[in-house]
Amino acid sequence: MDFKRYLITAALPYANGPVHIGHLAGCYLPADIYVRYQRARKRDVKFVCGSDEHGVPITIRAMKEGVTPQEIVDKYHALIKESFAQIGISFDIYSRTSAAIHHETSQAFFKNLYDKNLFEERTSEQYFDEEKGMFLADRYILGTCPVCGNENAYGDQCEKCGTSLSPEQLINPRSALSNAAPVKKSTKHWFFPLNEYETWLKEWIVEGKKDSWKTNVYGQCKSWLDSGLHPRAMTRDSSWGVPVPLPEAKGKVLYVWFDAPIGYISATKELTPLWSDYWQKEDTRLIHFIGKDNIVFHCIIFPAMLKAHGGFVLPDNVPANEFLNIEGEKVSTSRNWAVWVHEYLNDFPDQQDQLRYVLCANAPETKDNDFTWKDFQTRVNSELSGNFGNFVNRAFVMMHKLCGGRVPALHDQALNDTDRALISDIQWTKERVEKSIEEYKFRDALNEIMALSAKGNKYLQVNEPWNLVKSVAENPEQQQRIDNCIHLSLQLCANLAILINPFLPFTAQKMCGMMKVVERMLDWEHAGKIDLLKVNYPLREPQILFRKIEDTEVAQQVEKLHSNLKTGGMAPAAAVESPTAAKASPALPEIQYDDFAKVELRVGTITAAEKVAKADKLLKLEVDMGTEKRCIVSGIAQHFSPEDIVGTQVTVVANLAPRKMRGIESQGMILMAENKEGKLIFVAPLQHADEGSMVK
Ligand code: 2FM
Ligand code: ZN
Repeated sequence: MDFKRYLITAALPYANGPVHIGHLAGCYLPADIYVRYQRARKRDVKFVCGSDEHGVPITIRAMKEGVTPQEIVDKYHALIKESFAQIGISFDIYSRTSAAIHHETSQAFFKNLYDKNLFEERTSEQYFDEEKGMFLADRYILGTCPVCGNENAYGDQCEKCGTSLSPEQLINPRSALSNAAPVKKSTKHWFFPLNEYETWLKEWIVEGKKDSWKTNVYGQCKSWLDSGLHPRAMTRDSSWGVPVPLPEAKGKVLYVWFDAPIGYISATKELTPLWSDYWQKEDTRLIHFIGKDNIVFHCIIFPAMLKAHGGFVLPDNVPANEFLNIEGEKVSTSRNWAVWVHEYLNDFPDQQDQLRYVLCANAPETKDNDFTWKDFQTRVNSELSGNFGNFVNRAFVMMHKLCGGRVPALHDQALNDTDRALISDIQWTKERVEKSIEEYKFRDALNEIMALSAKGNKYLQVNEPWNLVKSVAENPEQQQRIDNCIHLSLQLCANLAILINPFLPFTAQKMCGMMKVVERMLDWEHAGKIDLLKVNYPLREPQILFRKIEDTEVAQQVEKLHSNLKTGGMAPAAAVESPTAAKASPALPEIQYDDFAKVELRVGTITAAEKVAKADKLLKLEVDMGTEKRCIVSGIAQHFSPEDIVGTQVTVVANLAPRKMRGIESQGMILMAENKEGKLIFVAPLQHADEGSMVK
């Protein structure tokens, strides 16, 4: 198909917390690279996104904070929008699902299906919290597990024994919101007959997308389709969301996963009066960039909805990424184990491209990957600065030193093999980068560009213009070699600016400034050429493109992660509020006794405690372990005053590798429990134990 226009969407983030770098790596950065590349190719592209502002977690968060859901989403919508803008995600529109245009669009969509008699109405009995006046989703019902007796099993699963449950199976069910015993109430909902689209979906995906969709995406879809599709409720009982547009549906809203993807349509409507060209003309290429947890909604449910409605294009591709872990652990917003984009921007001002680079070079394109601050430092220092930045800088410095600050001529008669090889590398790299981007292989594309700049460094090294200049007096022909080498190095700089622009747009801009060229030079059609900078054109002094990251910055970031962990800090979506988060935190994989036996736990007594300067969460403790005294830095300063805890017995992880925190070596860790209000309590023996006693 010869596509005339591109409609690129990136998953609408929930407006109940800020965005973290896992979001960027998973979805927004690849989408932005793709869009910037297509724009540079002068294709007709629209890039749409916005905040997903509905759903139960937002209502509950508002309830807990004593504010309205609108206040919650207003706060995070603004924060998220700003973070995206600052890191250079170049949406054509960043809208929101609480906007009137979205309410109208999603209601009209629902009404269209309703008028076709597509929905099946079903009435069932569901648990209702009378105190809070709301129906409870399964995750918000707690009770005793009928299998293992765990008193805190959820309405959908017991986390202790792993049994899948329905709320009806719980003994003594209670509401997770009020603790009150919920009552059964009957309620009517509208079900979308997903099962009726099974055959069509199989044909469209299993047969039609096998070669073009990523293996992870195709595989997930296939296994869903193989296990059979069922009707799904598209409405919920709630006061927050898009009201169901039927007179008999008071107090009901559209299911958040029904309205959110329609948000892509509403955002396009808000962006342009020509929105229907992008959604309804067959020669539009629709591409959804998402994270892997959204695959089924974008590949199965939303396409079935679009098909049922009729008249819309379907996604040509859904290039979902896997997840990015942080320092070896899964991101957890409830435990505050995340690198927040707005905090990065604050800690590393004007270093947007450094993060963009590392997240793309290490993107979880085919499997989960790990982000570590050490790797961030290595990649910035040795790849960005040591390779790319170094080459550009050397080319400019040489030009100023040896060619009077102007682009020297290219002398055909003096071309040698290294020149010809470089020219052909420039042309080939352009083609390979194109191919990789078109196939959504952004890491490969970036690698190609970095390999080209490495070739530039090698080219300078082999030709050594700084040595040639020494013999120009006796051998004037050497000047031609110098000219050729600097000329081609500068043309390579211009090419690197074009190629890197979709990935590192801030850097490409800086390079344009140094070359005194207008942004139009970055148009993709110029890539691969070696006449981009005119002979004799004066260029500016080089700018340092990437400053190095210091060891202390790495240490500070790692410490920040650890000291923010679980302590509340600015944790955005608290554990109990997010059903998925609540599920994730206790769900560590099973371990064997041998794993447990590796941890040496001993009783100690705190003999001294003091605050750590300039760290409001940390206390420095001296702990008597029987045979020795240990210095332990603990993140408990907001919970205890130093004088109150001297003499307290504690349990110490005694064989934990020492770690420096604020310059103090911490020789162990103290076990704490955290109650519902976030208060910390020492986990210690009930009776006095000798210092150094082993806990087993
Ligand atoms: O997983 C999420 O963050 C969802 N808010 C994504 C929604 S994407 C689309 F459907 F709007
Ligand atoms: Zn159980």
